[in-house]
Amino acid sequence: MQYTNTQDQVRILGISGSLRKASFSTAILRTLARKAAPLMLIDVMTLEEIPFYNEDLDRSPGSSAIARLKRSVVESDGVLIATPEYNHGIPGVLKNALDWTSRPAFQSCFRNKPVSIISSSLAFTGGVRAQYQLRETLIAMHAQLVMGPEVVIGGVHTKFADSEYNDETGLSFIMESLERLRVEALVRRTSMVAY
Ligand SMILES: Cc1cc2nc3c(=O)[nH]c(=O)nc-3n(C[C@H](O)[C@H](O)[C@H](O)COP(=O)(O)O)c2cc1C
Repeated sequence: MQYTNTQDQVRILGISGSLRKASFSTAILRTLARKAAPLMLIDVMTLEEIPFYNEDLDRSPGSSAIARLKRSVVESDGVLIATPEYNHGIPGVLKNALDWTSRPAFQSCFRNKPVSIISSSLAFTGGVRAQYQLRETLIAMHAQLVMGPEVVIGGVHTKFADSEYNDETGLSFIMESLERLRVEALVRRTSMVAY
């Protein structure tokens, strides 16, 4: 049995930017949830229950799906977003969910939350344009982007076997990125205890 000091263990919310059942983005998160445990517990969430953002409805008591999403962000030590690129940008469902979580203005549940991004695409470009659009949105929400080489997965459909992301080179690169997220999450947890 693998020994894990629970103080080193972080809880990460994995959000997929795709609603597709056979989504590569969601499948990548599920693969990483298996590979990163037990040091990193990744809870994978998809966004099909999130309604369209409407400021008229953005009051308490609101939609239970929104409450669950916000609570999951608050209770996590960090967030990992895996997204495809749609028309050179981020999918509407992901932007919509982030708009909900961005409110109240300047008090977003993402404020100071360590966030890492993985973009993927069938194309060679791996969704890199969506990745940069997503960074801008997260900056507007005062999230704490985890710095380091971007994780961009091109030709994603060639890197799967039996619904499992199996590109060994890519996986070791991604695990290094996840370790940076884990460290940032631990630093944030420690600084929250200090204050
Ligand atoms: C509406 C739509 C727009 C797309 N636009 C782009 C694009 O701009 N760039 C790109 O690389 N791939 C684009 N794609 C291809 C997606 O990246 C690809 O289908 C990806 O696998 C979808 O992610 P998923 O597997 O997580 O659902 C687009 C796909 C759809 C459905």
